[in-house]
Amino acid sequence: MKSTITGWGKCVPDNVVTNDDLATFIDTSDEWIQQRTGVKERRFCHVNNSDMATVAGLRAVACAGLKPEDIDVVILATCTPDSIVPSAAAHVQQKMECVNATAYDVNAACAGFLYALEQAKAFVESGLYKNAVVIGSEHITWLLNWSDRNTAVLFGDAAGAVVVEESKNEEDGEIYSFSNGMSSDKLDILEIPNFGSAMNRFTPNAAADVVWTFEGQEIFKSGIRAMAKSSEEAIEKSGLKKEDIDILIPHQANVRIIEGLERTLKLPNATTLKYGYKYGNTSAASIPTAFVDAIEDGTIKGNETLVITAVGAGLTWGGAALKLGNRITPLDETDVDLPPYEGTGIDVIRESINYFVPEKAEEK
Ligand code: ACO
Repeated sequence: MKSTITGWGKCVPDNVVTNDDLATFIDTSDEWIQQRTGVKERRFCHVNNSDMATVAGLRAVACAGLKPEDIDVVILATCTPDSIVPSAAAHVQQKMECVNATAYDVNAACAGFLYALEQAKAFVESGLYKNAVVIGSEHITWLLNWSDRNTAVLFGDAAGAVVVEESKNEEDGEIYSFSNGMSSDKLDILEIPNFGSAMNRFTPNAAADVVWTFEGQEIFKSGIRAMAKSSEEAIEKSGLKKEDIDILIPHQANVRIIEGLERTLKLPNATTLKYGYKYGNTSAASIPTAFVDAIEDGTIKGNETLVITAVGAGLTWGGAALKLGNRITPLDETDVDLPPYEGTGIDVIRESINYFVPEKAEEK
């Protein structure tokens, strides 16, 4: 049996936060952020991660022409779950009303969507489950330390989802191959130490005062190497050649990393998706969100051969090669959406600004 992507959907909150907005309370500038990362703006989520994941998931299910009760498994890639007990996927299963689905979280940080998609392929092709929903969703702005300009300017919130089903004929496309893995020798270059059951709960403000270990330049170099290698391995496993690849969807961490990947990987005929300028780094959500954007703006027209690749904390990494089906119009739609928010993007994190930079709290 073969598997393929039959539905897709995304959910980005309306609350836009520009670089200039951040510069009102962080010692940074639009020029610095754009030059180093390519990011112009990002979205801040005013609800829980599972609410974004639910909207993206329901849009993908409708797009595939399915009903929530048709779904057998919900795999939620996230490193920012609403709760540890139960999983965020439990909340999503409940809110989506996927009453017949098993559901669980995958935490592989920014490479989570690739890990989850590989599992969906295995479930469908083994016959264990028929219809799988794979969601990458992050409320990563919740996890930021707003007094750390090295990390606070990089991220944003979003969710993206796909449905994976059996591929019945060539026109349906096929998920060909993966090369996913982990370089835990680099575990300590990107980490939020002791945030979890290793945390001393009784240290005052332990959860508020999270500290990111973030070796930007080392992540940059390791990230390019890992994404290039895993992409090449996935292409080789699929039996394709580099010339066959039409679209490259890299993790949208930073446009300079993506350009470095392009120079290293050298796919002669591929268009590379670059949407990070409007969302920042949305971790596990960045690939499915870019995928949906590219369908919506006409960059993806159907039948393309894709390589997707990501790197994340761990360091986790992954690459996949797949062929899209010829249908890129949704079979159905849903009007489900996030509840409206009356304030500005900055209002969403007002409490955090008051905590981290009280001297700036009244300025905006
Ligand atoms: N605004 C203004 N100045 C800043 C900011 C900021 N937000 N952040 C850092 N700086 C300053 C630093 O203090 C430093 O100043 P100094 O020279 O006086 O000491 C200067 O800018 C240069 O800092 P570098 O860290 O050397 O800047 P670099 O060019 O490496 O860019 C960046 C930093 C953007 C983080 C880069 O290293 C990078 O893209 N790394 C990859 C990490 C990444 O994007 N990860 C994504 C998340 S992880 C993942 O997805 C796997």
